[in-house]
Amino acid sequence: WKTLDDVAMAGKTVLCRVDINVPMDGDRVTDTTRIDKIVPTVEDIIARGGKPVLLAHYDRPKGKVVPEMSLGRVKPALEAALGRKVVFGADCVGEPAKAAIAAAAPGEVVLLENTRFHAGEEKNDPALAAEMAALGDIYVNDAFSAAHRAHASTEGLARLLPAAAGRLMEAELKALEAALGNPARPVAAVVGGAKVSTKLELLANLVTKVDHLVIGGGMANTFLVAKGIEVGKSLAERDMAETAQDILEKAAKAGCQIHLPVDVVVAREFKAHAPNETVAAEACPPDAMILDAGPKTVLLLEAVFANCRTLIWNGPLGAFELAPFDAATVAAAKAVAKLTQEGNLISVAGGGDTVAALNQAGVAEDFTFISTAGGAFLEWMEGKVLPGVAALG
Ligand code: 3PG
Repeated sequence: WKTLDDVAMAGKTVLCRVDINVPMDGDRVTDTTRIDKIVPTVEDIIARGGKPVLLAHYDRPKGKVVPEMSLGRVKPALEAALGRKVVFGADCVGEPAKAAIAAAAPGEVVLLENTRFHAGEEKNDPALAAEMAALGDIYVNDAFSAAHRAHASTEGLARLLPAAAGRLMEAELKALEAALGNPARPVAAVVGGAKVSTKLELLANLVTKVDHLVIGGGMANTFLVAKGIEVGKSLAERDMAETAQDILEKAAKAGCQIHLPVDVVVAREFKAHAPNETVAAEACPPDAMILDAGPKTVLLLEAVFANCRTLIWNGPLGAFELAPFDAATVAAAKAVAKLTQEGNLISVAGGGDTVAALNQAGVAEDFTFISTAGGAFLEWMEGKVLPGVAALG
């Protein structure tokens, strides 16, 4: 794929697909990370003499105009991050889009309305993609986190105009390539979260790629069950035990070492500060539930990480949203951050809760790379081709 360095954009209108699907509380953006991360691309387009026209989705309006999902609500935060005037177009195609593009003076940025207000967006309708293409000269995709969707603005459009990856897309792809494509070995993957069923493909792919696979969170309980260990009232998918067993066998064949908790923190209630105790993984009382990995497990993980050169992280190791059951996640994340800062480890993290957990541990800045992607990061880790990336050539 090409980058911004490879396309001449002076005097051109540059349609730039971004992901500004940011969390909001009323009219306030509560986490501006995704907006902040697209600033270098927008600035670069302007510096090269192009006029940036931002195309993006917001939430899931399912092809209907839903005023609460208007991107007009995100415009003030975008203007603040860019320090530039943003001209808003009330539709992502047609006259309103053309008028907004015409109204933007050099150095100003155009933001077009939610692409998902058109049913053709998610259907990757060629007619909608052609209407979008008619608005500009060049297509830049900076939305890695939406690249797992084959939509008109992420896939169809890329095939109709000269296309390039934006700076954030470029950084995401390079980081993931370094972590799983052609990594420095040994490689460890940390996979946590509640359910095995949502991460089966991920685990099946990882055991063929990494040297160490750390399984944490509720998922680990299912693996303990697969090994014949009783987990009391813990969250566990007992019907997935056989599948978990298959993954353990596949890992053994591939030479991937699986690390499950050796000790666990158990409580009788699923709530913050519930009275708790630490027991061996085999000794969960029948009336208790596992809410975190214990300190011995953390020590073992630290030793594994210290021997690795690359680490990829997706999902917390315990019920990190409930103190003190965030302890293992926080301690393990701190260990990764330290090794990274010492220059001994390349660490890449992404997906759903993960970034929130690392922020809670106060170490997100100390990882080599934190992805802005949720679902796209997972699909990439599953070894899938992301249509939005494939369309860039
Ligand atoms: C995300 O928030 O992960 C992306 O913006 C994709 O959103 P989607 O899951 O609604 O396609």
